[in-house]
Amino acid sequence: QTRQTREPKQDKIVVLSNRGPNDFVWRGGSWVVERAAGGLVSMLAPLAQRPDTTWFCCVSEPPDAQGERDGLFTTAADQCAEFDVVPLPLPPEVYQAYYGRISNEVLWMLQHHMLGPGGYELVDHARYRAWSSGYFEANRRLAAAVKETCVAPRAFLVQDYHLYPLPALLRRYFPHVRSLHFTHIPFPEPTVLRLLPKPWREAILHGMLGADRVGFQTEEDREAFLACCKYQAEREVDFETKTVRAVDGRQVYVGVYPASVDPEALLALRESPRVAEARARFADTRSEFSIVRVDRLDPSKNQLVGFKAFAQLLETRPDLHGRVIFRAFLVPSRTDHTVYRDYKTAIYREIDRINEAYGPSCGRPPIEVYYTNDREQALAALERCDVLLVNSKEDGMNLVAKEWAIVADTEHPGVLVVSETAGVAEEAAGSALTVSPLDVEETTQAMVRALEMPRTEREGRLQRFRARVRSWTASHWLTAQLTDLGVE
Ligand code: G6P
Repeated sequence: QTRQTREPKQDKIVVLSNRGPNDFVWRGGSWVVERAAGGLVSMLAPLAQRPDTTWFCCVSEPPDAQGERDGLFTTAADQCAEFDVVPLPLPPEVYQAYYGRISNEVLWMLQHHMLGPGGYELVDHARYRAWSSGYFEANRRLAAAVKETCVAPRAFLVQDYHLYPLPALLRRYFPHVRSLHFTHIPFPEPTVLRLLPKPWREAILHGMLGADRVGFQTEEDREAFLACCKYQAEREVDFETKTVRAVDGRQVYVGVYPASVDPEALLALRESPRVAEARARFADTRSEFSIVRVDRLDPSKNQLVGFKAFAQLLETRPDLHGRVIFRAFLVPSRTDHTVYRDYKTAIYREIDRINEAYGPSCGRPPIEVYYTNDREQALAALERCDVLLVNSKEDGMNLVAKEWAIVADTEHPGVLVVSETAGVAEEAAGSALTVSPLDVEETTQAMVRALEMPRTEREGRLQRFRARVRSWTASHWLTAQLTDLGVE
């Protein structure tokens, strides 16, 4: 018997996601809690801190940990005390198939347009098995755990591509509970979704349409979803009212809720001793200019192109040698996945090449890498950077850009260089310098332009973007969803 079954959760807003506010790792014979990375977690933390919220997340449970299941729940209760977290333990083979083989290797890759070798390539028999006995199975188990644990839930907020089938599964158990599915990453247009096996794409669309509301980051994602419903699931779609008729006749509204940040929490964090320590460390080695990037080490974030663009900057502008440093904060991510490991190797090779080539004339290695998930350290570097580089190949939103807008030092305003294909580019229009993500040349030029931009222009751009971010925060993101659901 697990803690979930012993302690019913009554009248709660129930958040469901693959990754919870913390990671539960089985190490050395016990469960340890680690800080989780990624935009989803930072978005949901403020909601999850409310006493009327319960958060279900999935955990891989190795066989030797099964005797310690109570330990898992106690760890969740003691060490994630800010939140009411219910971890769902899944056998490692189920978890690996659901999270690794389908969510990361298929859906993540497809939705970021990474097709072909190293991305989403083909679906063989093993992958079909991973779909049914991994991906679908995990969603089924999550629905069953909710049924066992929750009494009269107020609403379900289902998160992301790991859990597309879940809204329809929950509806079977709780036909009258309002639910919303939100996708944090880009949604593919019909021509791309069509590359998935027919039964999968139908299960995805019908699963999502099990919710009362479906939410996306941008207008483009919403339009893509509506088109997929029309052309891939033969649903009746009203492009004016943004509604889709589900198989059971319900009208499902499709909304746009751009993810954002919590300015007050960020400003409070900026005052913390750990940020002060990191700030002092960077001040010791401060060069005239710093270019900063902060992202998970992920091929979709396009770090390699960013370094190549920096190399080109050094190549073409010897006068900047020794005056500009590139600080790259690379957050470890999906380290079991070969594609991610190979990408890391390629990145480090490029960094070594650049540091060896330009270290002598710069007087020190021009690229500093921090391969760790240290939010405070990254914040200290962000606040005084001259260029923030966000050149993702594709990105649902990108909250780092919005974090920077809030914490950036107005005494020393920097410039955001962002790829057109990041969700945030729309809100940063007119404030940031935009680049096409695979265009190394344009990225180099944008970095140079940012470094040479007059102070008044930098200040104006930063202020405009800051005002924009302040006008739509994480709390707006949440309230809009709860209001549209009729919960608040
Ligand atoms: C993105 C996804 C999240 C995910 C995060 C980190 O932000 O939208 O669902 O949690 O990346 O990825 P990971 O695979 O480590 O959970």
